[in-house]
Amino acid sequence: MIDKATVQKITDAADIVEVVSDYVHLIRRGRNFVGLCPFHNEKTPSFSVNSVRNFCYCFSCKKGGSPVNFIMEKEGLSYHDALLHLAAKYNIKVEEKELSDDERRQLNERESLMVANEWAASHMEKDLRDTEEGRSIGLQYLYQRGVTDEAIKKFRLGYNLDGGHALVDAAKLEAMDIQSLTQVGVLGESQKMPGSYYDRFRGRVIFPVLNASGKVVALGGRDLKGGMAKYINSPESAIYKKSNELYGIFQAKSEIAKQDCCYLVEGYMDVIGMWQAGMENVVASSGTALTDGQIAMIHRFTDNITLIYDGDAAGIKASLRGIDMLLAHKMNVKVLLLPDGHDPDSFARENTPENFQRYVKEHATDIIRFKAQVLLKDVGDDPQRRTNAIESVVQSLAHIPDKVKRIVYIQECSRILGVGEEVIEGAVEKLRSNVVEQQRRQRQNSQIDSMDQAARNPQPDVSHQMRPSKSREMLEDYPFYPFERTVVYQCVRYGILDFCEVEFDDGTTDMINVAEYVADEIQTDEIWFTFPAFAKTFNQILDLRDDFANERVTFNVSLEKEKKKMLKAGYDEIAAKDMSMEEIRRAERLLEDSVGEEISKRRFEFARYFVEQKLSSHHDDDVRRTVTEAMNEEQPLSNIYLRNNPVSERKMEIDRMRVLVPRSVLEWKNELLNQRIKSKMKQLQSLDPVSQHEILLEIQALMEKRGQLGKVMGDRTIGTKFK
Ligand code: GTP
Ligand code: MN
Repeated sequence: MIDKATVQKITDAADIVEVVSDYVHLIRRGRNFVGLCPFHNEKTPSFSVNSVRNFCYCFSCKKGGSPVNFIMEKEGLSYHDALLHLAAKYNIKVEEKELSDDERRQLNERESLMVANEWAASHMEKDLRDTEEGRSIGLQYLYQRGVTDEAIKKFRLGYNLDGGHALVDAAKLEAMDIQSLTQVGVLGESQKMPGSYYDRFRGRVIFPVLNASGKVVALGGRDLKGGMAKYINSPESAIYKKSNELYGIFQAKSEIAKQDCCYLVEGYMDVIGMWQAGMENVVASSGTALTDGQIAMIHRFTDNITLIYDGDAAGIKASLRGIDMLLAHKMNVKVLLLPDGHDPDSFARENTPENFQRYVKEHATDIIRFKAQVLLKDVGDDPQRRTNAIESVVQSLAHIPDKVKRIVYIQECSRILGVGEEVIEGAVEKLRSNVVEQQRRQRQNSQIDSMDQAARNPQPDVSHQMRPSKSREMLEDYPFYPFERTVVYQCVRYGILDFCEVEFDDGTTDMINVAEYVADEIQTDEIWFTFPAFAKTFNQILDLRDDFANERVTFNVSLEKEKKKMLKAGYDEIAAKDMSMEEIRRAERLLEDSVGEEISKRRFEFARYFVEQKLSSHHDDDVRRTVTEAMNEEQPLSNIYLRNNPVSERKMEIDRMRVLVPRSVLEWKNELLNQRIKSKMKQLQSLDPVSQHEILLEIQALMEKRGQLGKVMGDRTIGTKFK
């Protein structure tokens, strides 16, 4: 753990322009910089870097964030390692927090297992080329399978000599830790003679498994002699959870992000075959069914995945097994079956890279279409199986967030399955009805807003259009998600700004900030953020109050100094000129005005950007992500207006905040009432007349309340000042 003060030091030192410049050629454009986005392929720059807010983002792919975020994404590092990376760049000494004995032991254990694996992998990499046996057996085998020197180097392939104790001897000679080497399964301990060790991978070609940051976490060894086990792999250990790793992810990750697509194959050799055929965005699940952890890892880099299987029955089955989980993760899934008997490795050997790539492009089928076709083949004349097949397809169809896409699929599946479009559509829409209802209401609300469009984000949902799936998932589990999101995003922007004076029972008054106002308002109606990431972020914002108060004092002191310095420099300059008394007085007034303006701008920016400065590098993933997304979504005000009238820019922003925040809270409450009324209505149908009467009264009360809310909201929209 890095202690809090050091984290602060690092995030304070890390300058977004400097950090990004290590990767991107930046061009100044006004107050900002622009360049080609390092996260996706593009020809015209959409990557923008804002030095005032110490933040970067891509208008097109929406990636970016604070310097820490940027390094995490770009280098594929954990939060902790990204901080170390930045600390090294800025020569900041990192005081890792005292660990408990237990933590230290675990860390040491992991560290020594990594060292053991790395040592073994590089040793066997050398043995492949530097020994006669390595060349004549290992290398010969790889060449014969068409593996190139380039791929051998890229994937760090190696060979374990067949004698049985080559590594044992070398380890002893180099004083490597035998225990660690045994734990990671490089060495085995003799059962008959404890204390006697042997090379577990002897006589095998070695495929090191690198994790996303390039550390060797496991080894796979392929048999060359027709033995019982074609492959043996490292056992699970503190550094290797089989279900969390993907073979090839380190070599593929940047290409996956660039191509915005990932190929998933079955084996080590398939990854290498695809890679050699120029499809570098490829990983393997290594013989096991895809797991949640593996999908999540791919999802960090793309939404699109293409499964590539052998065209035999087993391959088909395997592809269908994966899809429910992939759809649950809201990935866009395609499947490609190779001609029967071929795996990607063999197919690559028999075709040119161009042909292989063309084959992939032409034959990748959408998974739902594929599923419908496959299931239908199985059905035969059995009506029950037919119904099951249809239901299963409907289930998948209901997972598609995009309406147009869904309709196209429904038409197609109707044709494939020989069932009327209306029938399928009815079933699908029934499953989706909740979601659709939510979205309708959202649209309606944004129509009410049309008056204030200019001040609002033109497309409030824009960041989620990139991954439409996200919104939908949220709506199912968290019906108030869009309302909570709007409010929490506004609190990221304005949370710490003064909102209004409140008077307490004892007659004292105090200024509350925007976040506190929101907290107070929603608590009155006994609601709170239900979406966990929003609740966490909102609490963090509330907690910033004291930090803000303290830091503002220091900030104001230094700002005063700065002001004096600016004024003095200005007065000196005026004095040096040859001017009349009147001219001097006028020049001084101008100077004081412009310095005053500059100072109040900085004071405003300090408060306005305080929340994002504090939380955009937060250690909690949820908080950091929420804040980053809120910042990404923010649309600048009209440039023309800003340039000519900086004072009004700030005034306008405050005015906007005073209107938008209360209204978003009201809309959230209104939705709550809608939901309550709806559920009462449902109750109504199933009750005896007496209870019905009670419920009716409750509904009436709720509706009245909604009416009042509506009136307040209406007032707001026609621009009543809120003070
Ligand atoms: P080649 O036969 O050399 O082309 O290997 P491959 O990578 O094509 O393997 P295959 O398609 O037969 O199997 C896919 C993956 O399943 C392999 O890459 C291994 O990860 C795993 N696998 C295959 N055989 C074995 C085995 O005998 N034991 C273990 N533990 N895993 C295996
Ligand atoms: Mn194979």
